[in-house]
Amino acid sequence: MSTAPTDRYAVAGNPVAHSRSPDIHAMFAAQTGERLIYERLLCPLDGFEASLRGFAASGGRGCNVTVPFKFEAHDLAARRSPRAALAGAVNVLRFDTDEQGGWFGDNSDGLGLVRDIEHNAARPLKGQRVLLLGAGGASAGVLGSLIAARPAEIHLANRSTDKAQALVDSHAAWATQHGVRLAASGLDGCGNAGGFDLLINGTSASLGGAAVPVSAAVLKPGALAMDMMYGPAAQDFLDWAAAHGFAGRDGLGMLVEQAGESFLIWRGQRPDTAPVLAALRAQMAAAP
Ligand code: ATR
Repeated sequence: MSTAPTDRYAVAGNPVAHSRSPDIHAMFAAQTGERLIYERLLCPLDGFEASLRGFAASGGRGCNVTVPFKFEAHDLAARRSPRAALAGAVNVLRFDTDEQGGWFGDNSDGLGLVRDIEHNAARPLKGQRVLLLGAGGASAGVLGSLIAARPAEIHLANRSTDKAQALVDSHAAWATQHGVRLAASGLDGCGNAGGFDLLINGTSASLGGAAVPVSAAVLKPGALAMDMMYGPAAQDFLDWAAAHGFAGRDGLGMLVEQAGESFLIWRGQRPDTAPVLAALRAQMAAAP
């Protein structure tokens, strides 16, 4: 039997108690036979770097990063993938040694979102009109990958228009390169555009119990309405989607898909995500 220490990974954030990532990675490890453990790492708001250094010193090989540290994780990485550099945010770190070039930062959120929409929900994005709500870390993390899927248009609507405009500006060249129209507005400015095939809610409005911050009239009948949240936080959004006849989707599939991509970055193999998503949905239906 091997006596090598087991590799440790974690989800680092504040809060992390609610995170389903440990369940997901435990299923990936069982499926692939990789020997690892995956924990929750609660980091003090002013102690993210110290927490990560301590974790790395005690056998940590990498981590996922969640709110509110994705921008800080970007700055901590010695090297970044092009998609993480474009997002300005990192949700996966691999603790490579200095000889290997130092900590590597990537962003798998966007790829996870696109894979969930196109593969799991069977809605190809090419040529579609997309309305993305919010201009914080969640939206910043996914915009580059959404553009790379070549929808006809992405309209970014946010409570404060200047933040939406800043995200559009930082992605303008990328959008041109992919032939995607990119526009920014306040939340009531997207009504003039209308006719969207897909709504993605990247705001934290539902966390505070606020209503979906746009009118249902901006979407086409039968549109896909997706919230990046999952669990109880997504329920009001899903109810809203059902009440208007849209195909509602929460962020659980995105979570599993970004986890699959993180696993690939750390372990060099991509797990089969479909049975893990099905198992997780069954678990959450039994004990939400
Ligand atoms: P995250 O990193 O999770 O995206 P964030 O950076 O705090 O978190 O961003 C939260 C997003 O939700 C922002 O786009 C915010 O709008 P502002 O930029 O105008 O603050 C949006 N948001 C939060 N509460 C909202 C609400 N009640 N209605 C509409 N948008 C809201």
